Amino acid sequence: MTPPQIDLRSDTVTRPTPAMRRAMADAEVGDDVLDGDPTVRRLEARVAEMLGKEAALFFPSGTMANQTAVWVHTTPGTEVLLDANAHIIHWEMAGAAALAGVQVRPVPPGEGHSVATAADLERTLRPASPHAPVATLICVENTHNGAGGKVSTFADLEAIRGVADAIELPVHMDGARLWNAHVATGTPLDEFGRTAHTVMLSFSKGLGCPVGAILVGDAPVIRRAHMIRKRLGGGMRQSGILAAAALYALDAHLARLADDHAHARALAAQLEGAGGARVVPPDTNIVMVDLPAGMTSSAVVAAAAEQGVRVSPWSATRIRAVTHLDVDAEAVEHAGRVVRALLEGAAR
Ligand SMILES: Cc1ncc(COP(=O)(O)O)c(C=O)c1O
Repeated sequence: MTPPQIDLRSDTVTRPTPAMRRAMADAEVGDDVLDGDPTVRRLEARVAEMLGKEAALFFPSGTMANQTAVWVHTTPGTEVLLDANAHIIHWEMAGAAALAGVQVRPVPPGEGHSVATAADLERTLRPASPHAPVATLICVENTHNGAGGKVSTFADLEAIRGVADAIELPVHMDGARLWNAHVATGTPLDEFGRTAHTVMLSFSKGLGCPVGAILVGDAPVIRRAHMIRKRLGGGMRQSGILAAAALYALDAHLARLADDHAHARALAAQLEGAGGARVVPPDTNIVMVDLPAGMTSSAVVAAAAEQGVRVSPWSATRIRAVTHLDVDAEAVEHAGRVVRALLEGAAR
């Protein structure tokens, strides 16, 4: 018999709850490309207000919203500066180069921290030169996926915004999991919003929706984003069905992200030191585990899957486990026991 699956590969694996499905079924809809879907408009107005911005635009995915933001803020042949491990660099199919025609310039985090700071950014900026491309955009990511769901605080982001303002560059925030940063720190979303010109937030991760992301910013930027979304094929018709899931999730699933964070801390405590493993202490819902010497992520991932626990290989020697709506404390504790036993020897 196949054992029950505890899927910690990502917070994107959640399935819409019966109550969310009911909210979707009951949504009032219209043609959002022709003249606007009323439920989409409600969602856009609500999230713009939450982030303290003038306008918002609903997207099918975070990738499309990020790529639209890069396109809106830049011109071809210029460069975008962003943390060396940013999602936009590594996991968006080189969209910045292929779509906006820009070069990405990775900012390496300095000694002792895992996400590039304002000082790291300043160090990477070049003086104007007849040989070097001109920078047109700075991107930040909060929480930072590759750094293990790491939160950048308001002060961290304000410092980056200060560097950007001094050289008159816009800032885009990949805030796919900004909801988690908000719940983990208590920082109001509009405070985070003040540190960037545009912010992307995802509904299909911790909030548990099947589809959707949103881009917020001032009205002229969002008007240009609207044209680019259409060019990318992102105009959706009766998308109120999807926006209704997001509205429901803002009411029912936002505050509970604190549970996911508690589950991640418990899992980290369970795995820390197992067989010599080192765990990055989680700020939010992502647990990164550096494996004991001689162990490979492919072996651990395969052995865990055989026992019904799914985690992802992050590198050859690092695995990632993400807590979410569809796993409770008991499931996470069971998964932790399985992985701990493997780290202690069984997966070599
Ligand atoms: C930090 C971050 N940004 C952007 C995205 C892209 O979102 P989507 O999968 O909706 O395209 C992800 C997805 O995992 C992410 O983790």
